[in-house]
Amino acid sequence: MARTPEIVIVDPDLSVRADLTRMLTAGQFTVVGDSDYGIDAATVAKEHSPDVFLINLEEPVARAFQTIEMLAAAAPQAAIIVYSSQSDAGSVRRAMVAGARDYLVKPLKPEDVARAIYGILEQEERKRLHLVDGADQQVARGTILTIFGAKGGIGKTTIATNLATALVRITNANVVLVDMDTRFGDVAIMMDIAVENSIADIGRRIDELDRESIKDELVRHHSGVAILPAPLHPNEWRDLTPQHIEKIIDLLAQGHDYIIIDTPGTFNEIIATTLELANIIMLVTSMDLASIKDTALALEMLRGANVSEDKVKLTINHSTSANSLREEDVERVLEYPVTWRIPHDYHVVNSNQLGIPIVIAKPYARVSRAITDIVHALSGAPRERKGFLERFLGRTG
Ligand SMILES: Nc1ncnc2c1ncn2[C@@H]1O[C@H](COP(=O)(O)OP(=O)(O)OP(=O)(O)O)[C@@H](O)[C@H]1O
Ligand SMILES: [Mg+2]
Repeated sequence: MARTPEIVIVDPDLSVRADLTRMLTAGQFTVVGDSDYGIDAATVAKEHSPDVFLINLEEPVARAFQTIEMLAAAAPQAAIIVYSSQSDAGSVRRAMVAGARDYLVKPLKPEDVARAIYGILEQEERKRLHLVDGADQQVARGTILTIFGAKGGIGKTTIATNLATALVRITNANVVLVDMDTRFGDVAIMMDIAVENSIADIGRRIDELDRESIKDELVRHHSGVAILPAPLHPNEWRDLTPQHIEKIIDLLAQGHDYIIIDTPGTFNEIIATTLELANIIMLVTSMDLASIKDTALALEMLRGANVSEDKVKLTINHSTSANSLREEDVERVLEYPVTWRIPHDYHVVNSNQLGIPIVIAKPYARVSRAITDIVHALSGAPRERKGFLERFLGRTG
């Protein structure tokens, strides 16, 4: 980027605005304006058309959110970066829904602000180049499928491990399963593999790797699925930036037909990157009210981030046998169609504990058949006609 990025600061506290202006202009930025919340901010936005808004988010937050929405409408070309003393997932999510592209927790450090601004502007630049000439597209890339959900314990890892396994079995494709659970990755346990080389190790050496050599870093499961496990200790995620994640996924996508990404039930900038890169987002919900409520928020967030609805496939997983809601009610409440349904199956818990994906342990169980259906829908692979014995086993599996 040739010229220095132009910033507008929005903060009700004049002295904070002055401090921030000093900090930014001492670095490599130009502050072209500043303002309080409200209509003033929209006016400054129109006057200056900045590249970036830096906006404070504090209690009471309603006015701040209203201002973020106003800025997103008044200057859609500008990126909005929120800074706040609140670091809870709810505030981050609401800011993203309102139109923020990044979220920094106070106290602000110049290097964090600079990294956020340049990170976003580089993304914009890449998008623009992609639109101008599809140069990058000359290298083919596989389908990136992110398994996402607004809550923990709803079956995301169960689906990710089984989907990856079934994809290899049915289509014989090159499939890599990436554990992006930034808290406690479970993929290694559910696939019963040893973690020698994790995503954190690969992130550290990403600049030395290419689309072929990265394959040697993956664990090969006996099913044929290649696995990139999460680090054993969650602290190791600290070394990984969204830029690392983007590079890792891009290299994997150059050498695999499918990249299946498992995520935690929380939201952070690494997960935001996996959603941005995904060709398909499987949004998993279980049938309990808390999960439906959180799924409504997740859908709102994805809409706020301008994720195309074609990409988002709502999937009901009956991870518990409780069934207080009907599937039609879920569609009505969420105002969103359900693409895939996975039934409850008591075999799942056992096979997860044994570290054998259920599609291997019980290929004809109800869950395995549901996963198989998803694989056919994703890949377009033709279905084999079942013989009498298989149909019989299918009924009893
Ligand atoms: N369709 C199903 N039928 C029966 N049990 C299921 C089903 N799906 C998931 N489970 C069970 O639900 C529990 C949670 O599953 P899983 O660990 O896959 O969820 P998760 O969304 O990845 O959770 P986390 O966010 O904590 O990583 C496990 O005990 C699993 O065996
Ligand atoms: Mg999980």
